[in-house]
Amino acid sequence: MAPNPSTPIAVGDPARRAAAGPAASGSTGIARTLTRRSALAGAAALAAGLALPGRGTARTHAGIPFGGAVQAEHFDSDPSYRQAFLDHCDLVMPMNELKFSLLRPNRESWNFEPADRLVDFAIANGRLCRGTTHVWYGATPDWITRLESEREIAAALGEHVERVSDRYRGRVTDWDVCNEVIAHDPASEGPLRDTFWLRRLGPRHIPDAFALAARADPSATLTLNDYDLEFRGSRYDLRRATMLSIVRQMQDRNVPVHRVGLQAHLYLEKEIDVEGLARFGAELKALGVGLVVTELDLIDWQIEGGPAEQDAAAERSVSAFLDGLLDAGRPAAVVAWGITDRYSWISDVMPREDGKPERPLPLDRDYRPKPWYETLRRRLATA
Ligand code: XIL
Repeated sequence: MAPNPSTPIAVGDPARRAAAGPAASGSTGIARTLTRRSALAGAAALAAGLALPGRGTARTHAGIPFGGAVQAEHFDSDPSYRQAFLDHCDLVMPMNELKFSLLRPNRESWNFEPADRLVDFAIANGRLCRGTTHVWYGATPDWITRLESEREIAAALGEHVERVSDRYRGRVTDWDVCNEVIAHDPASEGPLRDTFWLRRLGPRHIPDAFALAARADPSATLTLNDYDLEFRGSRYDLRRATMLSIVRQMQDRNVPVHRVGLQAHLYLEKEIDVEGLARFGAELKALGVGLVVTELDLIDWQIEGGPAEQDAAAERSVSAFLDGLLDAGRPAAVVAWGITDRYSWISDVMPREDGKPERPLPLDRDYRPKPWYETLRRRLATA
């Protein structure tokens, strides 16, 4: 049976919880017992959640900022790529370089250099910057998983969040503190994803990471980021409900969560739930929590035909997504997961069966803007 999303979040398997030790039962974290949200936290989040803080002069376009995620390896080798971010983006963020396992691949060494370079590029050019991510199962360094005690793991996470927040304070003003904590299918696996962090620290690792980030940089905007929050269907309804439940429980604990990040990897064969997305945005807004689109790209692997069909499907999906997104208010930014079809994770992870090139990003391989991107920019400019 599907868990009731209005009940407190718990790890489903008591054996696993017991094996993980006392802290995994949530004694200091997301509590199972709290259901009432704190009006105080809501008001604070509202104040913090309305705008990207501190960088008002960085904007190069009116309206909602548009951004792109940049990768160090292409930044270094392809001058047109670098230039495209300057030509198109109000916000430039490192795609991978601020992830835990890249910043601290082993316990003894930190590798800040690639992230520093990209953050400096954004700031030196007057762009906004945001950071991803402190806690993500996909970027957990091996050395952490070998630590024996819960106390050591929690201390390592604390040290990481503190050091990274401190280094980028005032430059990386918005952090995906936790990424992809909701189970892929909360009805059968959830509500939370089974990760190293959940198994070892329990659900408390989510509010704990946010509290650490808030303490390390009180001026930062703190975002809870996830995928599959915009489509029609019961799995997506439940993912939205689970996100709302996590946010409410954090607010009940007076733990700041300012924004929900919609990754927006848009599968073009799936229908956008315009009303569901609008309702989700409105419910978050009522809690004082804003939206930010963090990883927009288009997955056209099921779309038959060529570029014309791919772009037509993209236009339909992006338009519906924007209808739902903009209904509830203004997202803080819309960030694409790359800028040109030359470089995208979609081609590696979800290639087309017909062998034709994917068209996931705003600019094609020759840096020509797609029609859907022009639609997007128009709507962001006038929103
Ligand atoms: C991906 C990057 O695009 C790749 O370059 C990297 O090798 C792996 O991570 N959801 C996320 C992103 O939250 O961090 C992922 O990014 C894509 C899926």
